[in-house]
Amino acid sequence: MRINTPGSAGILPASIPALLLFLLAAISTAAPAKKLTVGFAQVGAESAWRTAETQSIKSEAEKRGVTLKFSDAQGKQENQIRSVRNFVAQHVDAIILAPVVETGWSPVLQEAKRAKIPVILVDRGIKVPDESLYATLIASDFVEEGRMAAEWLAKKTAGKANIVELQGTPGAAPAIDRKKGFEEGIKKHPEMKIITSQSADFRRGQGKEVMEALIKKHGNEITSVYAHNDHMALGAVQALDEAGRKPGTDVIVLSIDGIRDAFQSMVAGKLNCSVECNPLLGPMAFDAIEKAVVGQKLPKRTVVQDKVFDQSNAKELIASRQY
Ligand code: AHR
Repeated sequence: MRINTPGSAGILPASIPALLLFLLAAISTAAPAKKLTVGFAQVGAESAWRTAETQSIKSEAEKRGVTLKFSDAQGKQENQIRSVRNFVAQHVDAIILAPVVETGWSPVLQEAKRAKIPVILVDRGIKVPDESLYATLIASDFVEEGRMAAEWLAKKTAGKANIVELQGTPGAAPAIDRKKGFEEGIKKHPEMKIITSQSADFRRGQGKEVMEALIKKHGNEITSVYAHNDHMALGAVQALDEAGRKPGTDVIVLSIDGIRDAFQSMVAGKLNCSVECNPLLGPMAFDAIEKAVVGQKLPKRTVVQDKVFDQSNAKELIASRQY
């Protein structure tokens, strides 16, 4: 059988239905994949580091045409659990979770697993008996950051320091691991000791308040401050300044994150050192999600590499800082 159509010299092969089917199939494989909806359960907005991480994830979602449902737990695990549960009820395609603390996640993650929703952990790890409860963890090695800080301080002080430690949120992976790594690092130096260690919840205001109280209590005995993040260190710098001590010279101050304000303080000669912790995790998180939703296996952990910055390179690098 032959079919006459205009422009075909009046002739088309009889297998036209097959040809149409072929074309349709080609069009449908070229069609864009299903638009994803992702829930992001964030810790809060306690530091510039955290807002940089939020921004990285939001802008990457926008770039990839992903619908992002965002929730801010305001530092409370119960809020975060509620958000994850809501995301499960809304049948999102994947969940990004930056967990406030390490423990207490099994029940809600079991709910996500039962609903076949992959959970991508960013920035902080968790402790669960069953690792299949999350698809992957993308984060810095906080223990290593603590070790790098200790090594830097040992070099700077020739292994002699009376240290005030300002810890992050109790129970949070970076607070636990940065303490562990730092303690491991200073153990090699008998004349380096932590004279007191207190939490300031990763917040600048609390860093200042806690430091003011510690200056009153320990006075000139303090020769160094190690803070688990830049914001607490910047609060401590202010407290030292106001108490007439000289942060950067009299008292060596070091911390972790590498935010722009820390660079400014290093350039001003106040903060001595900041170990980087990269918050720009959006691209890696969405690469992982795109694989997870099509059933590809992911590495259980991807470690983000960090560098050490101090007053010797802060001025040259400040303009290139992205957060
Ligand atoms: O989990 C990463 C830590 O959390 C960052 O160091 C800190 O600034 C933040 O609040």
